[in-house]
Amino acid sequence: MTRKLIVTSALPYANGPIHIGHLVEYIQTDIWVRFQKACGNECYYFCADDTHGTPIMIRSRSEGIPPEKLIERMHKEHLRDFTGFQIRFDNYYSTHSEENRQLSERIYQGALRAGSIIKKTIQQAYDEQEKMWLPDRYIKGTCPRCKAEGQYGDSCDACGAHYQTTELINPVSVISGKPPVLKESVHYFFRLSDYETALKDLFAKGYVQDSVRNKLDEWFAAGLKDWDISRDGPYFGFKIPGEQDKYFYVWLDAPIGYMASCKNFCDRNGMDFEQVWNSGEYEICHFIGKDIMYFHALFWPALLMSASLRVPTKLFVHGFLTVNGQKMSKSKGTFITAETYLKHLDPQYLRYYYASKLTGDVSDIDLNLEDFISRVNADLVGKLANLASRCVPMLTQKLNGRLGRLDEKGNALLEQMQTACEKIKADYEALNYASAVRTIASLADICNRFVEEAQPWVTLKSDPEKTRTDLTAVLNAVKVLTIYLKPILPVFAEKIEAVLDIPPLTFAQVEQRLENKPIRPYIRLVERIEKEKVDAMLEESRQETAPAQPAQLEEPLAPECTIDDFAKVDLRIARISRAERVEGADKLLALELDLGALKKNVFAGIAKAYKPEDLVGRLVVCVANLKPRKMKFGVSDGMVCAAGSGGDQIFLLTVDPGAKPGQRVH
Ligand code: 2FM
Ligand code: ZN
Repeated sequence: MTRKLIVTSALPYANGPIHIGHLVEYIQTDIWVRFQKACGNECYYFCADDTHGTPIMIRSRSEGIPPEKLIERMHKEHLRDFTGFQIRFDNYYSTHSEENRQLSERIYQGALRAGSIIKKTIQQAYDEQEKMWLPDRYIKGTCPRCKAEGQYGDSCDACGAHYQTTELINPVSVISGKPPVLKESVHYFFRLSDYETALKDLFAKGYVQDSVRNKLDEWFAAGLKDWDISRDGPYFGFKIPGEQDKYFYVWLDAPIGYMASCKNFCDRNGMDFEQVWNSGEYEICHFIGKDIMYFHALFWPALLMSASLRVPTKLFVHGFLTVNGQKMSKSKGTFITAETYLKHLDPQYLRYYYASKLTGDVSDIDLNLEDFISRVNADLVGKLANLASRCVPMLTQKLNGRLGRLDEKGNALLEQMQTACEKIKADYEALNYASAVRTIASLADICNRFVEEAQPWVTLKSDPEKTRTDLTAVLNAVKVLTIYLKPILPVFAEKIEAVLDIPPLTFAQVEQRLENKPIRPYIRLVERIEKEKVDAMLEESRQETAPAQPAQLEEPLAPECTIDDFAKVDLRIARISRAERVEGADKLLALELDLGALKKNVFAGIAKAYKPEDLVGRLVVCVANLKPRKMKFGVSDGMVCAAGSGGDQIFLLTVDPGAKPGQRVH
C-alpha cells in the first residue's frame, strides 16, 4: 500500500550561511524522502528560511539594508547550497510570507479562543539609545558570581553560573555599549500546561523516538511553564492582531512556516491544502536537531491542539556534528560552510560519509577527516564505483557494448543481491543508514570477488561470450546496488542509469533483469578524495572572515575619554613569572606578574587559549592600578591586556624585546 507523507527539516535561520553541521539534518532528511519516493510513496519535502527575530533585524541594520533584502539574499544562498549538495525540496519557502502571516494569525486566534493565551506584565532590559528591547544575549557585563567580565546576560562562560540578566554587574547593551534600563511591558503567554495530558497521550502514541523520551519526562517533572510568545517593537516579524507595537516571537511563526510552505505548494499545484495538511490522509514527519526539541516536542503540538488542528505523526531527532572529535572551530578551519566545501570537494563524499554514520538515534556524529578520506576512497570509490569502472569499458570497448544472457552463476549472484532488499529498506525506514551502507558495501565485496574469480580480462581473448555472460551478471548486480544506494547518491545513480541506458531506477526494479541490450560508454562516477583538497578546504575555512559584511567593529567603541581619563589607567610592562591552572575554573589561569620592584597575582580568563607552561617568561602589558577584586578563588590584583572574543580566541598583547618589567606604558 502506498503511503502519503509530508516531511520537513528545521527551517534554517536567514542570518547566516549553511554549514556542514546543518547538512547532517538536510542530508538525513533528503535520503529518507528519496527513499520514500523510490518505494513508490507519495512524499513531499517542505522547508523554508526562518526569517524573523532580533538577529536578522540587527544584521540588516548594520548592513544598511531593509530586512526584506537581507532575507531575499539569504534565501538564494541557502537554496544554492542545498542544491549543490543534491538536497531536493518539493518547496523551499519563507516564513516571511502571506501564507505564514495568515496561518500564524489563525493559530493564535484559535489559542485565544481556547483560553490558552494570557497576558502578564514583565520587566525587560531596554536600550534607550537604540530604542529597542534587549534579549539576554544582547547584554554583557560582569558575572555576579565569579566577577569575570564580558559575560552574557543569562550565563557566565568563566564559571558556568546561570543568573537573571538583572543580576549582572555593570550590564551594557552589546548594540550601543550603553547600560540598559529596566522597563515594564505587557507580554502574551501561551499556557503550555493546559496541554500536559494531551501531550503525554501524543508521546504514548510514539510521537518521538524512545531515546528522547527521558528528556521529556524531565521536562514534565520540572513542570510546564507559560511560554512568552510576544515581543515589543521594533521587531522584524508579524504584528499581533489588535496590537499596535507587539509582534509574534520568531519561534511562534517558525514552525507554522512548515504549514506555509505546504500551503504555497498546494496552491501552486492545484491541491487542497486543508485536506492535505489537516485530514490525517498524510503522515507528517519533522526532522530536527536535539537543541530544538522543546519547541517541537511540546510547544508545536500544543499550539496545533489549541487551534484544533491535527498534530504531526513523528518527530525524528538527531545529534550534533563534531569534526575530528571536537566542536566545529573557526581557528581550526573546521567551521566549514557548504559553499567552501563545494569549491574543493564532491558533495557525494559527504552524503556517503554522513549516511555511513547515521543510525537514527540522538547521539552526535563525528566527521573524522582521516576516516572520511579512507572510507570514501576504500568503499565508495574502491568497492562500489570500481565495479562499474572495471566492467563497463570491457563490454563497450571489446564486446560491442551489448549485455548477453545470464547463466546460473550470474542468477545466483543476483539472488544474493536481491535477498538483502527487505533489510535495506527496513534500515532506511528506521533511519539506520549506517546499517544499510554496511550491507551494501558487503554486497559489493561479493561482486568484486565474483569479478576476481571470473577474471574477465583473461577470458576476454579466449572466450569472449563467457566474458559477456559474466559481465552481464556484474552489471545487473551493479544495477541492484545502485537502487540501494540511490537515496544517498542520486547523481551516481543517474550516471549508472545513463550507462545502462535505462529509465530512472526505483525499488520496483530490484528483480528486473537486463539482458541482450546495448549499453553506453562509461561515465566517470566519482573520483578519489585527495588529502590536499581537504587541506585546502580547511585552510580556506580558516582564512574566511564573515561573508561580505560591511566593515563594522565587532564591539562598539566605548564613549569618548580624554587624555587625563586615560592617564588614570596605569599600564605596566610585566614578566609572567608563574602560571598555573585554577582548580574548578577551566577558563582561568592564576598568573604571577613580575613588575621589577613589585609582584602581582592576577586571575586571567585565558586558559582556553594558552598553556601555563608556554606563558612563563613572557612579557605582557598589565593594568597595574586596577582595584583588587575578590574572586571565588582568591584576590585578583590587576589585569593582563588581551584582545579577542573569549574561548580559544584570545590574544595577549606582546611587547618588543628590550622593554623592562615595571616600565609604564603611555
Ligand atoms: O534552530 C534553528 O535554526 C531554527 N531556525 C529552527 C526553526 S525550525 C522550525 F520551527 F521552524
Ligand atoms: Zn562567573
